[in-house]
Amino acid sequence: MKKTTAAITAVGGYLPDFVLSNKVLETMVDTNDEWITTRTGIKERRILKEENAGTSFMAIKAAEDLLKKRDIDASEIDMVLVATATPDMPVAATAAYVASEIGATNAFAYDLQAACSSFLYGMSTAASYIESGRYKKVLLIGADKMSSIIDYTDRTTCIIFGDGAGAVLFEPNEEGLGLQDEYLRSDGIGRQFLKIDAGGSILPASEETVKNKKHYVFQDGKSVFKFAVSNMADVSALIMERNNLSKNDVQWLAPHQANKRIIDATANRMGLEPEKVLMNIERYGNTTSATLPLLLYDFEKQLKKGDNIIFAAFGGGFTWGSIYLKWAYNS
Ligand code: UT7
Repeated sequence: MKKTTAAITAVGGYLPDFVLSNKVLETMVDTNDEWITTRTGIKERRILKEENAGTSFMAIKAAEDLLKKRDIDASEIDMVLVATATPDMPVAATAAYVASEIGATNAFAYDLQAACSSFLYGMSTAASYIESGRYKKVLLIGADKMSSIIDYTDRTTCIIFGDGAGAVLFEPNEEGLGLQDEYLRSDGIGRQFLKIDAGGSILPASEETVKNKKHYVFQDGKSVFKFAVSNMADVSALIMERNNLSKNDVQWLAPHQANKRIIDATANRMGLEPEKVLMNIERYGNTTSATLPLLLYDFEKQLKKGDNIIFAAFGGGFTWGSIYLKWAYNS
């Protein structure tokens, strides 16, 4: 019997209207467009300004966009996974709310948190449910409202992150398309370098934690950079080797959009020409869980059925990995 694989069959996305440019950041902190552009590749990012709107606001929009494009009813969805580092609130899963709001009344839903690797890990989870044969339509959304955890007086982090959401649908495939292989890693040594100190079970929120700005992202950028460069390049090269893929066999690299220099290093290691590297960091910055689906959203028209795509991510924790996927449709 032929093995059932899990393929991405539709893509949706949402980006807030408000654009925060490098020029505007120059007026907020001691930075400049030239530094940001050369060190990160970012020119602008989107910020969700709607009042009382959290990550679910964007996740719902991305999911609705996907459902409309794929022309299916939300009641057909079996499962909704929201990959996010910024859930609407602790405890109550954002995914459960999103599922209800889009009308996925027959689905169960939960969140998945692995910082910037959340969506990559989510691809593995979604695909496994499909491959098991138990579910037929798994909606995976990557969404983050990074502006809710960023200190806009801290120039080392506020220039990097942005808000956004992307969604993909995983369905069974009998032609051998979809997820082919994965190599996922983690190392707890990383949590000292990229974290939010307070608001969790170690240091619950208090007057003190708020006063000391302990609810914002802290990043030791240089250390994270070093780990990210070597690990993202390593896993991308490894997954090519393991699947006997030469650089000519790979049509696209879909890398986490954290820093253009990390992306370039990964592409170099794989021997890929720049034309094969999907990139939109200049417009959105680092949207954490949304970077990978937003690449698919932006470049969907260029992806052809059968194309070999290598996904790669690196994030807090540390968490990282690569996924080899064959694209399943022409749009
Ligand atoms: O997605 C999750 C994983 N995260 C990442 O992959 C991020 C990895 N890290 C990075 O992308 C980079 O480390 C950053 C973009 C965060 C920083 O770039 P860098 O080249 O590592 O800069 P740096 O931290 O070594 O700082 C270099 C200099 C410092 O000044 P001195 O000490 O050389 O005088 C900083 O104070 O740049 C200064 N600096 C800035 N200058 C202008 C730091 N931030 C800024 C800024 N504008 N925004």
